[in-house]
Parts: sequence; C-alpha cells; structure tokens
Amino acid sequence: MHKKLSRRMFMQGAAAALSATAAARITAAPSKEMVRPQPIYGPPPGVAKLNANENPYGPSPAALKAMMEASQKGAYYVYDSVMRLKSMIAERHGVTPDHVALGSGSSAGLTAAAIVAGREGNILGPDLFWDTTSRVVEIQNLGKIKRLPKLDSLAIDLDAMYSAIDDSVSMVQVTNPNNPTGMLINPVKMREFCLKASKKCTVLADEAYNELTDSSDANTVIPLVKEGHDIIVARTFSKIYGLAGMRVGYLIAQPEKIEQMQRFGIGWYGLNQAGLAAAIACYEDHRFMDFCRGKVKEAREMVASAVKENGLSALPSVTNFMFVNLGDLNAETFRQEMEKEGVLIRGIYRDYTNWSRVSMGHLEDVEKYTSALPKVLHRMS
Ligand SMILES: Cc1ncc(COP(=O)(O)O)c(C=O)c1O
Repeated sequence: MHKKLSRRMFMQGAAAALSATAAARITAAPSKEMVRPQPIYGPPPGVAKLNANENPYGPSPAALKAMMEASQKGAYYVYDSVMRLKSMIAERHGVTPDHVALGSGSSAGLTAAAIVAGREGNILGPDLFWDTTSRVVEIQNLGKIKRLPKLDSLAIDLDAMYSAIDDSVSMVQVTNPNNPTGMLINPVKMREFCLKASKKCTVLADEAYNELTDSSDANTVIPLVKEGHDIIVARTFSKIYGLAGMRVGYLIAQPEKIEQMQRFGIGWYGLNQAGLAAAIACYEDHRFMDFCRGKVKEAREMVASAVKENGLSALPSVTNFMFVNLGDLNAETFRQEMEKEGVLIRGIYRDYTNWSRVSMGHLEDVEKYTSALPKVLHRMS
C-alpha cells in the first residue's frame, strides 16, 4: 500500500539516508580524519590564510542576515535582485543601469572585457598586474598580452604605456591600485592618461581594491565613463565587502560596450540570490567599510614594522596586501617555509623571484606571520 509522501517524511527519509552514509564514511575513514575534519568553506582552524587578498571580517552582519533570508527563496531565479543592485550601483555613480553589468565576481566581467578586446587586437599592460582573466586571450589564441618593460620601482609608467599603444592594441589594462604591488597611481595622472588613451583604444581600469584606499571617489575613473569615454571600470564585492565566496562583481562602461561584453559570460544568469542579497545589504554600509579599512591599516603597520625589524623592505601599499622584497631569498622557498609555520602566503610572480605577497587577514593571523618571519628568515640564511 502506498503512503502519501509528505514533505516531512521526505525530509526525515533524506536525513536518515544522509546519516547512514555519514556513518559508513566515518567507519571507513582513517582515524585522523575523524578527529580533525577539514573545513570546506574556509581555512582549517589555526592556519593563517594570507594568500588570496580576502577580507575575513566579512560578510557584514547586515549581509549575513540578508543571505539567510534570500537563501530561503533560492528556488527562484534572480532577475529582480539583479535589477535592484544594478540600480543601486547606477545611482551611486550617477550613470544609468544600462552602464552597469553584474557578474559572478569581477572576474566574469574582466574575462568578458578581455575576450571582446582579444577579438580585435592585443591587450597592453604593465609588466606585473592581475592578468589572470586577460590571459584568456592567449589561451584562446585571440590576441596577445603586450607588457611594458619592468621598472625598478615596480610602479606603472603611464607615459610609457601611452607611447606603447600602437595599432595592434585594442585595450589597455590598468589595475589601480595594482596587484601584487599594492601601489596606487596619482589620480590626476590616471585621469589624464585615461582621457588620452581612450581616444586610441578601450581603457580597462580594474579597481578591485579602490574602496580600500583613503579616498575611493578621488581614485576612481568612473566619472570619465559618465562623460562618455571608452573606459571600462571593474569593481568587486570580494575585497572590502568581504564577500569573495559569494561571487558578485560589476562593470561600469558605455551601454554599447556593456551589450558587447554581455555576450561573453556576464549577465544575471551568473549570479545567485544569496550573493546578490549580501551585496544589496552592504553596498552602502559605510560603518562596516570604515571598520575593515581600519583593521587593514593596523595589519599593514604590523607587517611594515616586522619587515623593517628583520632587515627587509616592502612597497608602499594602500591595499589589503603587501609586496615584500626578500633581498636574495627565493619567494617560493619562503612560501614553503612559511607554510610549515601554518602561514599561507603567495610564491613567485613571473620572474620576480625575490618578491613575496602577503595579505592582511585577521590581526591574530597577521601576528602569526610577523612571529614566523624571523624564524623562517633564520632557517633560510
Ligand atoms: C586586481 C584584481 N581584480 C580582480 C580580481 C577578481 O576578483 P573577483 O572575481 O573575486 O571579483 C582580483 C582577485 O584577487 C584582483 O586582485
């Protein structure tokens, strides 16, 4: 005889099946795993994760609350929440919602921008920048990434960049502040460069860390988009908002450009209800952002003094990471030695073999870095 399968019975059955599977797994698992299960949503307890420029002070309380609510409506597609966030962003920057595209992190938009540019020519960038998404043009044989020569200061030379824009270049990419250097370009120079360069090709300004600078509004080129120039600005909820795992980012550009890029992986279908809810809840949460900026500054001061005390130097960062000059030490060996101390940092970038990037996490994690530093340097000397 068939019983009517109620939702409650279904849930009970599912729970029983789950616990049976879990029990089987526990019986089969090695005892070590039973004692210390590895978390899958963040670093294991005791490990200082300072390798991905995340902001562990997020999500903000308002974002958490909104996510809980939105997850209960996870059965529904996201159209209305996309429209809401787009209008908030448009209003904040004085552009129309047609100037805004949302994506799964800013990576989605940056990849779309690179594909559109790659179909028309090469992408020009400094020697060192966050090129993870733009590399898609080389992977897909669309175009090349042309790089400026390396400078001793590791700064971006905008004059050299302007001179290097030839007919083969369809887009010039400036990460400001730059990753992994953490350095900011003078806002007047950046504005002048964007005005000139956007007459020759598209300018992509990746402003992932903009809100971590002391003056977010002075350091953005979004007003130039509003004035009608061919500039794409990329922003993200992954950094100051502490929502890297919720995957929300956006582009601001001319509506025709947005339309072109929307053919390559950005648009509402890449987003999720919880991420959008979190972004909507914290977009204008200035108290939370001030709090995070304060913590990041404190952390940078701790790293700067530790670096100095240990005879090293670091670039002047305005972001939640620092690029440390290890002298004649190898950054990959340094990374491995730090990992043995429970501190995760980045290894070598390109041929910058003695430069090491460390992110500003919780202060107690940054303290782990500063106390491990003399030990590791001693071992490596
Ligand atoms: C400069 C820069 N841009 C963009 C991104 C991509 O971040 P997301 O896709 O999480 O927005 C990162 C990530 O670290 C970054 O450093």
